[in-house]
Amino acid sequence: MNGDELLITAPRVLTMDGQGDGDGELGVLEDAAVIVQGDSIVAVGPREALCAQQPELVPVCHSGLLTPGLVDAHTHAVWVGSRGQEYVARMGGADYEQLAALGGGIVASMRAVREATVEQLSEALVGRLRRMAAMGVTTVEVKSGYGLSEQVERNQLEAIACAAQRNDVPAVVPTFLGMHALPPEAGGDRDRYAAQCIEWLERIAADGLARYVDAYVDRAAFSVAQAKPLMQRARDLGLGIRLHIGQFADVGGAELAAELSAASVDHLEHVSTQGAQALAEAGCFGVLLPVASFTLGQAPPPIALLRDCGVSLVVASDANPGTAPTESLPLALSLAVRSYGLSLPEALVGVSRNAARSLGSAAGLLRAGGPADLVLWDLPHEAELAQPWGVPKTRAVLRAGKVIAGALRNDRCV
Ligand code: NIG
Ligand code: FE
Repeated sequence: MNGDELLITAPRVLTMDGQGDGDGELGVLEDAAVIVQGDSIVAVGPREALCAQQPELVPVCHSGLLTPGLVDAHTHAVWVGSRGQEYVARMGGADYEQLAALGGGIVASMRAVREATVEQLSEALVGRLRRMAAMGVTTVEVKSGYGLSEQVERNQLEAIACAAQRNDVPAVVPTFLGMHALPPEAGGDRDRYAAQCIEWLERIAADGLARYVDAYVDRAAFSVAQAKPLMQRARDLGLGIRLHIGQFADVGGAELAAELSAASVDHLEHVSTQGAQALAEAGCFGVLLPVASFTLGQAPPPIALLRDCGVSLVVASDANPGTAPTESLPLALSLAVRSYGLSLPEALVGVSRNAARSLGSAAGLLRAGGPADLVLWDLPHEAELAQPWGVPKTRAVLRAGKVIAGALRNDRCV
């Protein structure tokens, strides 16, 4: 076999490139194969035909499910420190927004992140990315937002850039989230802080440190009026927009996102009918974060409304030390099915094809010409991804044709 060519066979392959609704979307192929050359897929199709097409390739015969690598489109994975005590207090009844107002929450992580070097931040991030890869994830969006000063936001983005240079962890998409919380030195002046974020963004964009800009638009965070100038500037600079909206209250974030053609709006527990319609018309992806609403004991977003309006749904982990203390996208998938009532195909599309599209990435699908991001699961069927919860059994995870977790092994060929 040529060193960088691979022929992998499997009894069940999901291309995620199917048409129509429900199971049709999954693009199920039975007794199928994938041919990889270098970092790309060159063919996906029936096993017999592909084996005949490439008789010189010795196949890797996998006996379980094969899917595209999963895509986590919303994480805060570059952080250090611990918020374990805060978690215990919250589970004992303390309120997330009240704790934040008392200097806990995001600002508690800010204190720890401000003490860390870029190397320490990068090391923490790379450790998380490795564990995410072991759970089948091959692309991860990572936000800053625990620096809350120009220098430390940049430290986070530089740590993300270091991780992005590696080819032994998932691909990384960087997002600037300076407008995540107000640091203590801002003295409560959100308008002034918002203006500062625009100055920081100019230099961050000039140095190519971010592909997206995000802001936390909510009742105890930033207003639409405060976030809008930063987002307009982001758009002028050619960056994409993602917005945390409606986690605690609908303050008009959906309308802002639609007006600015945001790539995604994330959380969405609180969104009006008009807001959902505007999102659908503007083609904004709705990123669901079921781990966060589970942790906070919140009711789900209005899934039926979003679905009926035609908002394309993404499911993401929100991995962060406060509201989503997990690194597991499969756990988010399980909770999307269990607590949000997504169908299994909806949830699977949400962690693959739609997640990738929301990031402008060609991943999340198995198709000729696409990136060879694949997961060989030690599972017979995709239903096993939704349960047991958060314990995905991967055999091997490939990013761009290279194994980044587990190992390829030949099961007995049929
Ligand atoms: O997506 N809501 C704002 N940001 C995060 C929480 C971050 C934190 O608590 O550290 C979220 O839930
Ligand atoms: Fe978040």
